[in-house]
This record gives sequence, structure tokens and C-alpha cells, in this order.
Amino acid sequence: SRRVTIRDLRTAKERGERWPMLTSYDMYTAEIFDAAGIPVLLVGDSAGNNVYAHPDTVPVTVEELVPLARAVVRSTSRALVVCDLPFGSYQLGPQQALETSIRIMKEAGVQAVKLEGGLPVVESVRRIVEAGIPVMAHIGFTPQSVNALGGYRVQGRGTDGARLVEAALALEEAGAFAVVLEMVTAEVAAEVTKRLAIPTVGIGAGPDVDAQVLVWQDMAGLRSGRMPKFVKQYGDLRGALVTATKAFADDVVTGVFPADEHTYH
Ligand code: KIV
Ligand code: NA
Repeated sequence: SRRVTIRDLRTAKERGERWPMLTSYDMYTAEIFDAAGIPVLLVGDSAGNNVYAHPDTVPVTVEELVPLARAVVRSTSRALVVCDLPFGSYQLGPQQALETSIRIMKEAGVQAVKLEGGLPVVESVRRIVEAGIPVMAHIGFTPQSVNALGGYRVQGRGTDGARLVEAALALEEAGAFAVVLEMVTAEVAAEVTKRLAIPTVGIGAGPDVDAQVLVWQDMAGLRSGRMPKFVKQYGDLRGALVTATKAFADDVVTGVFPADEHTYH
């Protein structure tokens, strides 16, 4: 079986088929999501606040993401693996964006890169695509700009909606193969989805998009604390780990583990 291609994703949109996407940063989740048939996996810079214990994605570096992306690629055979360009690795312009993309393609072995922003990154997208590297765009709430956006705020309300539609069209024209819409009103996301031939991937963008992405720790209930409105938890991995950890600790303290069946003679 071969990997999913950007062409397959375009075909899915033409057929009106929705698809799921998840983040992954390690071997076991990559194996599990690949076997479950998740067609696109993202090694997101959300590793910043889900792996590296940074407060947000701003401090994440290429050096931090590349080893995670390599592990995800090695652990999958079917999924199209996308790696984020971290903050600071492309904002200087098309030249830096292309250099970082080439480095990530060669060192991580992923099939595509993703970067954040609208009109200001259109020329960078064009340059990377012209070099033969598929690019996923990301507009709406863009976490790398959290400090400029004034917090985690819904985008696309009022006249901002037209700006998002314009950005999405420009990114498609520049050659992006898909566009992530994060924390965008459902109405604007539906409009963008209708206007584009390439798939839209929603996260907090309502139901009328071509695909849905979630951070896997949110999806599986590993993260603690208050979840954003757009998260649905499909498991309680945190609860399962807490229970297993307590049972192991108790067994060690009471001498129940290891039993004879775990012991060499
Ligand atoms: O880094 C990430 O996880 C992302 C997705 C939420 C789209 O960019
Ligand atoms: Na990201």
C-alpha cells in the first residue's frame, strides 16, 4: 500500500468525501493512527505545548520538530505526513521559507510542510511549491501570532470574513494543496470551502469544511484542564494512565509486583 498523496485529497473533495486528520509526535500514536486509516498526520508545532511543555508554539524550533517528524514517518506507511514550519523559520521571506522547507523535507522525510498566515506568506508558498514541496496553508487563528492577535480569539467575524476568503483564494492560487481554518466562524469556513477547489481542514471551523483536525492529546483525553469549545474528547487516556500508575505504585509498595510469572529462575 502506498502513501496518500495530495492528489488523493483533491479527488476526495471532488467526490464530497470528508476526511480526518490528527497530530502525531511519536512512534506509537503514529502507528495507531496510520493503522486506523487517518490519511493525513501533522507533526505540529503544537508539540510546543503538548510535548515540550512550552506555554505555546512560539518557542518551538526546527531542531525540536525534526526528530519527532522522523519518528512519525518511520512509523507510518500509508499516511501523508505534514510537518509545521516553526515560528521564526520562515517569516524572513520566501528564501528562508524555502531553505527551511528543504531542510525539513531532507532531514525528516515528510511529504509536505505547513506554515501559518495569509497574504504576507503567499510568495513564500509559491516559492516552496515551485521547488516541488507540497504546502498546507493555515489561516484564521494562527497560534504563532497569539501575541499579535491578543489571545485565543475567534477569527472571521464581521468584515474580517472577507479578508479570510481573499487570503484563502490567494494561497490556493499560489499552489497550496489544502488550507487549515482555525477558530473561524462556521459561516466563513463554509464560504471558503465552497470557493476553493483544494480541501479546507477545520479546527474550530464548524461542520461545512472538507476535513477536521484535532491535536491528538485533546481528541483522546490525555490533556488536563479546560478544553477549547471546539474539542471533543473521544477517550479518557489521562484517567487510564492515572489508574495504571496508581496500581503499579501500590503493587510495588505492597510487594505484589513482580509475581513469580514475571521472575527468572
Ligand atoms: O500545530 C498544530 O497542531 C496545528 C493544527 C492544530 C492545525 O497547527
Ligand atoms: Na501548528
